Amino acid sequence: MTAIVSVRVPAKVNLSLRVGGAGADGYHELATVFQALSLHDDVAVRAAAPGEFTIAAAGEGAAHLPVGDDNLALRAARLLALAFDVAGAGVAIRLRKRIPVAGGMAGGSADAAAALVACDRLWGTGATAAELADLAARLGADVPFLLLGGTALGTGRGDVLRPVAAAGEYHWTLALAHAGLSTPAVFRRFDDLGGAPQPQAPEVPADLLAALAVGNVPAVGAALVNDLQPAALSLQPTLERTLAIGLEAGARGAVVSGSGPTCAFLSEDAESADRVATALGLSSGVRAVRRARGPVPGARLIEEDR
Ligand code: C5P
Repeated sequence: MTAIVSVRVPAKVNLSLRVGGAGADGYHELATVFQALSLHDDVAVRAAAPGEFTIAAAGEGAAHLPVGDDNLALRAARLLALAFDVAGAGVAIRLRKRIPVAGGMAGGSADAAAALVACDRLWGTGATAAELADLAARLGADVPFLLLGGTALGTGRGDVLRPVAAAGEYHWTLALAHAGLSTPAVFRRFDDLGGAPQPQAPEVPADLLAALAVGNVPAVGAALVNDLQPAALSLQPTLERTLAIGLEAGARGAVVSGSGPTCAFLSEDAESADRVATALGLSSGVRAVRRARGPVPGARLIEEDR
C-alpha cells in the first residue's frame, strides 16, 4: 500500500537580526525576531526500500538544489530514523519549491523541518514537539523556528525560541535577486567588516516587540533591522538600489532578509504592498517579486493518502 504524507512549510523573514560575537564553534550569538510567511514549500514523502533515501525537487530554484546526502531534508529524515531506531526506514522525498534557494528565507531549513514532520507521520514515530525541536536544532539554527511558525524571538544561535505576540496581519513584498548568497560567506564578511561591537549576547529589540504587540505597522517598519545587511550589501551592492525602490514606492520598512539576498518590504495593506511589488517588478536588479502575509503557522500536515 502506498502512503503519501504532505506537509506545508513557510518561509521566514527576520524582522530584527542582531548579531553578537562568534563562539569557539564559529556560530554567532543572535537576538532575532522571526516571522513565518505565506510563501510555502510543499514536501511530500512516501516509503521507499529500507536504507533508500532519495529526494527530487520542482519549482523555484529546484535546479540549484543539492540532491545528494548533504541535502538538509534528507539529513532530517536520516536523523529521525536514527533517533527513533525506525526499522527498515527508507523514504522518497518530493519538494515543491516556492521559497528561493540561498535567498535568506530559510528554504533549506524549512524543507528539513517539513521532512521531520512528514517522516514522523509516515513512520509513526510519534515524536513529541520537544523531541522534534531538539532534532531540528541539530540540523541548523533556523530549523526549530520553521517547526514553530508564527512570530518568535530567537536567541542563542537563533534556535532558543519564545513566541512573540503580534497583533494583526503583516503584508510583505519580497524581491528575489538574480544570484544567491551563502550564509557562512555573509557571516564571514560580517566578521571581516569588524563583526559585533560587543562579544556578549546582543540586545532584544524592545521597540519592535512593543510595536508588534499592538500591530503598529509603521512602527514595526521603522524597527526593521539586520546587522548582516552591510555584509550582504557589500557582497551584492545592487541590493541597495532594490531597497530604495521599495521605500520610494511607499513601503513602511525595508530590510535584507537574514543573510540575503532577498529584500523584504512591509506595507500597511494589500493594495500598498501590490504597488511596491509593481515598482520592484520593473527593476532589472530584481529577478522575481512575491507577495506574502504573516504570521502563518509552522510546518503542518496538509494531506495524507493511504
Ligand atoms: O545553522 P545553519 O547551518 O543554518 O548555519 C549556517 C551557517 O551560518 C553556519 O555554518 C555559520 O557559518 C553561520 N551562522 C552563524 N551563527 C548563527 C547561525 C549561523 O555564524 N547563529
